[in-house]
Amino acid sequence: MQKTWDNRRDYAVPGDSKETVAWAADHWIHSAERAIQQRGRFAVALSGGKTPKAIYEAIRKKKLDWSKVWLFWSDERNVPPDHESSNYRMAMESLGCLPISSAQIIRMQTEKDIENQAFDYEEKIKHYLGKHLFDLVMLGLGEDGHTASLFPHTAALAVTDRLVVANYLADKKSWRMTLTFPAIEQSRQAVIYALGAAKQTIVSQVLKAPIESNYPASRIGTPEHKALWIMDLDAAQKIS
Ligand code: 6PG
Repeated sequence: MQKTWDNRRDYAVPGDSKETVAWAADHWIHSAERAIQQRGRFAVALSGGKTPKAIYEAIRKKKLDWSKVWLFWSDERNVPPDHESSNYRMAMESLGCLPISSAQIIRMQTEKDIENQAFDYEEKIKHYLGKHLFDLVMLGLGEDGHTASLFPHTAALAVTDRLVVANYLADKKSWRMTLTFPAIEQSRQAVIYALGAAKQTIVSQVLKAPIESNYPASRIGTPEHKALWIMDLDAAQKIS
C-alpha cells in the first residue's frame, strides 16, 4: 500500500474515505505497538481537524496497552480546554474514556499567556521525551497548505531554535500554539492526513512544490525521518 513519493516522503491511498480512516487507524495502532515494544512507550502529538477526529473515533475501539501511551498536541487554538474549537476537547471527546493516566496527557495550555506557555510546553517535551521526541506527529492539511498551526507567511515558519512557539495569525486575528519544523523533523514519523475532493488541488500543489515553497506542508519530511501522506482516492485524484 505504502509507496515512495521522493526521498523525504511516502504516501498511501487505501481507498475511499472510510477505508482510508480504517487504514490510518491501523497504522496508528501499529506505530504505537512498535514504539511500546521497542521503547516501552508511545508518545504521539495529536492534531485538530476533521480527519484526525475520525481516526480518534476509530482507534478508541482498538486493543492497545493504553497505559503506555503519552498524548501531546501538534497545535492548539488560543482557547480554554472546554471551548468548542479546542483541539484538546475534540481529541478527548473523540477518544472517549481510555485508560491513560492524566499525568500522560500533556495539554497545550493556550488560554492565557500563550507565549510563555509555549516555553513551558517545550520544557515538558524535553523533560518527558528523548532525542527523537515524538514517535508519531499527526498533521492535517489546510487548503492554503498549512499544517499544524504553521500557516503561510507567519513567523513560526522561520523558527529554527525552538520546538514549540506561539504563532500570530494576522488574517484570523488570533494566536495559536504550534510545534515548529525542528520539532516535527526530529520526531520519528510525521503523518499528514488528507481526505476528500476539496483537498485534491492543495495535495497536488504541496506534493509537487519544492521544499522551500510557500506551502508549509511541503517542508514536512526528511530523508532521516520520512513523512507519510495518507490520502483517500478523492484527495489523491490529481497526483499521478
Ligand atoms: C487545526 C489543525 C489544522 C487542521 C487543518 C486541516 O488546529 O485546525 O491543526 O492544521 O489539521 O486545518 O483540517 P481538516 O482536516 O478539518 O480539513
